[in-house]
Amino acid sequence: MVQFTLPKNSKITTGKTWPKPEGATNLRKFQIYRWNPEDGKNPRLDTYWVDLDTCGPMILDALIKIKNEIDPTLTFRRSCREGICGSCAMNIDGVNTLACTWGIDEVKGDVKIYPLPHMPVVKDLIPDLTHFYAQHASVMPWLETKSNTPAKEWRQSIEDREKLDGLYECIMCASCSTACPSYWWNGDRYLGPAALLHAYRWIIDSRDEATGERLDQLEDPFKLYRCHTIMNCTKTCPKGLNPAKAIASIKKMMVERQI
Ligand code: SF4
Ligand code: FES
Repeated sequence: MVQFTLPKNSKITTGKTWPKPEGATNLRKFQIYRWNPEDGKNPRLDTYWVDLDTCGPMILDALIKIKNEIDPTLTFRRSCREGICGSCAMNIDGVNTLACTWGIDEVKGDVKIYPLPHMPVVKDLIPDLTHFYAQHASVMPWLETKSNTPAKEWRQSIEDREKLDGLYECIMCASCSTACPSYWWNGDRYLGPAALLHAYRWIIDSRDEATGERLDQLEDPFKLYRCHTIMNCTKTCPKGLNPAKAIASIKKMMVERQI
């Protein structure tokens, strides 16, 4: 029988409210999703108070401060803290973005933080990206060539190189794919905006010699055509990229090669 409500153990409960830091006058309230796979309990929303006078300006600064000074069990990913590695992607104030480049002052009211939506959760703010990375690998994100390897390098004109702008900058943060309703419902078979942006990046690389095979592989009712141009991907991308345009370009190439 179809179930239209959330399973009981996935409902988010009210969690612990941690004490306010003593003597602080510039406090900001953070509500953060917590879930521990080992305690058998439902997810909960814990409340923390952060003294902004002793905290850096970014959401990631606040998370690190909470972990260092209030609650060491709070779990999240981060590495570069400058928008390069993609590991700190999470849902902040309803938007999928990077905690290290999103300012605390960009959020009005209480700061609510959840993991990226519609993904299995490993713990707290960490989504399981195993399937997402496998989909990325499936588009062969590397140069495929058949010609003999040149003595020095695979050369490319300045014009052809410029075609990769707006694509190569992707940091695989998964903000776009996890903002996409088509990916929420069909993520097992629809590749999603991030993997398709990477597919297009290699399809239009003038040095690549597997364009036909790449397009053949995407000629599938789910892998590519589950994109319905909803545009959430482009709206949310923290790097300002346009995965929807890349997907539309692949669809156009599919049509053109049949003419
Ligand atoms: S296209 Fe943007 S949102 Fe999507 S994975 Fe790449 S950087 Fe992240
Ligand atoms: S910590 Fe690397 S992108 Fe945020």
